[in-house]
Amino acid sequence: MAPASSNAPVLAGVVGHPVCHSLSPVIHTIWAKRAGINGYYIPIDVPPSYDEFARAMDSLRVVGFAGVNVTLPHKEHALRYADKKSENAQAAGAANMLTFSDAGASAENSDITGFAEAVREQRSEPGISALVLGAGGAARGVVLALKALGFTDIRIANRTMERAVALAEAFDLAVIEWGKRSQVLENTDLLVNTTSLGMSGQPSLEMEIGALKPSALIADIVYAPLKTDLLRRAEENSHQTVDGLAMLMHQAVPGFRQWFGEEASVDDELRGELVKELNRRGKT
Ligand code: ATR
Repeated sequence: MAPASSNAPVLAGVVGHPVCHSLSPVIHTIWAKRAGINGYYIPIDVPPSYDEFARAMDSLRVVGFAGVNVTLPHKEHALRYADKKSENAQAAGAANMLTFSDAGASAENSDITGFAEAVREQRSEPGISALVLGAGGAARGVVLALKALGFTDIRIANRTMERAVALAEAFDLAVIEWGKRSQVLENTDLLVNTTSLGMSGQPSLEMEIGALKPSALIADIVYAPLKTDLLRRAEENSHQTVDGLAMLMHQAVPGFRQWFGEEASVDDELRGELVKELNRRGKT
């Protein structure tokens, strides 16, 4: 690590490829400004291979970075690079946070806690039965969050059946055929989309949600557009919703605490700033 002088700014950032779309610099910069912290949080584009990732992390440590968030395609690389790995990061097989110290690099997964917090914000007791659409890395994190929230009946529906089966076997879940996703909603407390369907530039998610009970919560991890077709229809049917921005804001809290040393607040003012930024980028 670089020798730290008492008035040196705190350095942190987000590593990905591409990374220019990330809203994390906006979030951390707002929090640092609010707290009057002398610090910088910057986007860092690192080519996709593990070797390039490891070289970049070594360099960031040399120049004194406190830590970084990690996004696609490097979340598995972050876990591999770390000397110490949290239980959540190990269970997910991926990390979105690396913290550097003289003792080494430690990996954490705040995507899991971020999703759990976003759900808890809407509902302190969200229920026991969930249907998860998708079976990729995002679905894995969501499943771990659902288990932490107390869900005991978790079902997976995914276009590619083998991926659904693999995830279900890893976490002892039930599998629903992709084509039957709209027919199994009756007793569902939470429906969550983790697929890329509904994202701008992608096909929309075809899903009939009329069979959901009125108290069911509907979540979508997509945040561009912020109001996906699924969430718009959920609101029309008077369901409470959790959008991708809620998860994104909550996953950022542990990094800010760890690297900048202050508690950060997820509130309407922050959401407003992020919506403005998404509008500026033409993403809502
Ligand atoms: P991530 O790690 O972000 O979850 P991923 O591993 O690429 O990304 O997973 C994307 C998810 O969106 C998968 O569940 C994928 O389904 P497949 O496993 O069948 O690929 C889902 N997905 C993407 N495009 C889809 C489409 N057109 N129809 C249905 N599901 C789709």
